[in-house]
Amino acid sequence: TFCGKSGLITMGREEERKGIGWGGMEYASVALSADGKRLRLLDQRVLPQCVEYVEFEPDEVPRAIKLMVVRGAPAIGAAAAYAYALAADRAVRGDAGKFQGEMQRAYEELFASRPTAVNLAWALNRLAAVVRAALDDNVAPEKIAAKLMDEAHVIAHRDIKINQAIGAFGSALLPESCNVLHHCNTGALATVGWGTALGVIRSAHEVRKKSIHVYVDETRPRLQGARLTAWELMACQIPMTLICDNMAAMLMRQGKIDAVLVGADRIAANGDTANKIGTYSAAVVARAHNVPFYVCAPSSTVDLEVLTGEQIPIEERDADEIVRPSGESSVAPEGVRVFNPAFDMTPASFITAIVTENGVIYPPFEDGLRESVRKGHEWL
Ligand code: MRU
Repeated sequence: TFCGKSGLITMGREEERKGIGWGGMEYASVALSADGKRLRLLDQRVLPQCVEYVEFEPDEVPRAIKLMVVRGAPAIGAAAAYAYALAADRAVRGDAGKFQGEMQRAYEELFASRPTAVNLAWALNRLAAVVRAALDDNVAPEKIAAKLMDEAHVIAHRDIKINQAIGAFGSALLPESCNVLHHCNTGALATVGWGTALGVIRSAHEVRKKSIHVYVDETRPRLQGARLTAWELMACQIPMTLICDNMAAMLMRQGKIDAVLVGADRIAANGDTANKIGTYSAAVVARAHNVPFYVCAPSSTVDLEVLTGEQIPIEERDADEIVRPSGESSVAPEGVRVFNPAFDMTPASFITAIVTENGVIYPPFEDGLRESVRKGHEWL
């Protein structure tokens, strides 16, 4: 496994119960190391069997994002922001003439690490704009590095507040007693804290005291549902049942699901939404059974420059994710041809509403999304 040059910090079971994830505390999926020089990530590849924090040098972060040590759109946005700020801190200690070039390299490597979730580009562009403006004003690199770290902290800290606002709006949409279907992982692990779609579930349970039960899609092939969402829901003591992705249709036909809640990696200006592969199937089945389908995401996931979902780049990942689900021997014949898109696109026409930190948007989505993006700037 890829562990970063700074090595592992493994939490024991006892420490883990007291320190993170339990009793309403957050997991700190993205944070700085104690000396503030490295990025500290909760390694999501080894959950739930191991709770391990790994520290990464800034130039190792693109690889950590690619390998999904950290994953989930808002979490990779925050991780990239911190890595870029740490890269600046590193660059000011080197040759002053190379500062701009080093920052450009850090930007490009982080930008290319995962293509679909726009939060990554959104966070990097915010920070790159700070660098550009400061260089134009002849600000010293040391001061630029400090400004970047301030901005990364703002992105990270506001993420939790933003998710709690999504939770407040989204939980109001759910009946007092309900069964919901959730796909992938959109919780504290996938964000800086609280979660988006899972945050709505958490708000319904913890804040509004609704009686909510969650059917958790296992989410093939990386099993974010089985490994991560089940772990988070159990930690929060929210009633849940794990199912394989292909079981949701039967449950909907039996009238056992009242709403579908998912997150998003990129929402086009017209509401078309890219999210974890399998989201589209859930949306089609929900429509066939008149079950409301809610997308829950911060306004930073809305990409107004992309007019429709057809323009959203869809990441394709390694065949081994499908044929070697637990990393060992292949479940398919050696050499089999594999297609492994990590995301799919759900057309806006299948979406009942999009919940952002600024409220609930109903179709047609264009004006509401534009307004939410405008208001989104007020949070930062
Ligand atoms: O490949 P992943 O695990 O990064 O995909 C994550 C998702 O698709 C989530 O639903 C999305 O990023 C929203 S997380 C709040």
